Amino acid sequence: MVELEDLPNVGEKTAQKLRDAGFGDMMRLATATGKELAVKAEIGEGVADKVIEAARKAEQIDFETALDVMERRKDVGRITVGSEAFNELIGGGIETQAITEVFGEFGSGKSQISHELAVTIQLPPEKGGLDAECVFIDTENTFRPERIEQIANGFELDIEEVLKKIHIARAFNSNHQILMAEKVNELIQSGVNIRLLIVDSLTAHFRAEYVGRESLANRQQKLNQHLHTLQNIANTYNTAVFVTNQVQARPDAFFGSPTKAIGGHVLGHAATYRIWLKKGLAGKRIARLVDSPHLPEGESVFKITTEGIID
Ligand code: GTP
Ligand code: MG
Repeated sequence: MVELEDLPNVGEKTAQKLRDAGFGDMMRLATATGKELAVKAEIGEGVADKVIEAARKAEQIDFETALDVMERRKDVGRITVGSEAFNELIGGGIETQAITEVFGEFGSGKSQISHELAVTIQLPPEKGGLDAECVFIDTENTFRPERIEQIANGFELDIEEVLKKIHIARAFNSNHQILMAEKVNELIQSGVNIRLLIVDSLTAHFRAEYVGRESLANRQQKLNQHLHTLQNIANTYNTAVFVTNQVQARPDAFFGSPTKAIGGHVLGHAATYRIWLKKGLAGKRIARLVDSPHLPEGESVFKITTEGIID
């Protein structure tokens, strides 16, 4: 293991600055940009560039073969959403090393699935979890510990233990949200076994704050930066990122769906898996996989109950 202090140009003081700014991890450092590092760690841009270059060498960032990629995919963990059919639709559960987005209208179950995952991540692997903890970035103040209690009860888990392993961040605006996501680096580096990061909702603040066409470019740039942070966490720590997204009315649509996800192309390209949630009859919900790198499109039906998501 190469330590920060082993890098050329990095003394004790610089190393401390890097750690304080959340760059204690070599891969995190290697994937930073010079400007980003200079601003956040308050070091000169020249030094920042050199440090990043050294970190890239240490991490051996270079081309890799398809075999290497396949090896890395072997480490991918999967987290159950509670319904077997839903799990099957997405290849066995929510994946680590990826961003999964669910979008749908109000009451379609986005926040319910978020709560479910905050519990199932804690299950042992044979039960569909990763024996790990999670971060829940709550932007709409809809996180409810009472709901966690009910779901944990369904799995016969110790309520207090479960609640202790869910790290909540209330985000009051989009900048706050971006900062809290970056702080996840520090939490993980301090030794907490975080394998799931939930952002519910990813887009609500951005949508509320950047109104009108003239602010669209600005919004997309900020959202892109945020998504970059999320993807970085997913790759660096083999973590699953689960984000929720609202839909907007599309009155011009004559065919197909009259709604579309917010976030545009920026989010469309960043999310590895996109799932569209629809309300069905008698409390049923339909999940439709609309984008995945290797799975066919398809649908599954699930239900929300007091104990959480079921087939
Ligand atoms: P927005 O955040 O408003 O866009 O919606 P959302 O997609 O996050 O909706 P959410 O996940 O909060 O789903 C709310 C729905 O879940 C409610 O309308 C109920 O149908 C269902 N629900 C929530 N809690 C319970 C529960 O304890 N028991 C049952 N059976 N259903 C519940
Ligand atoms: Mg919600």
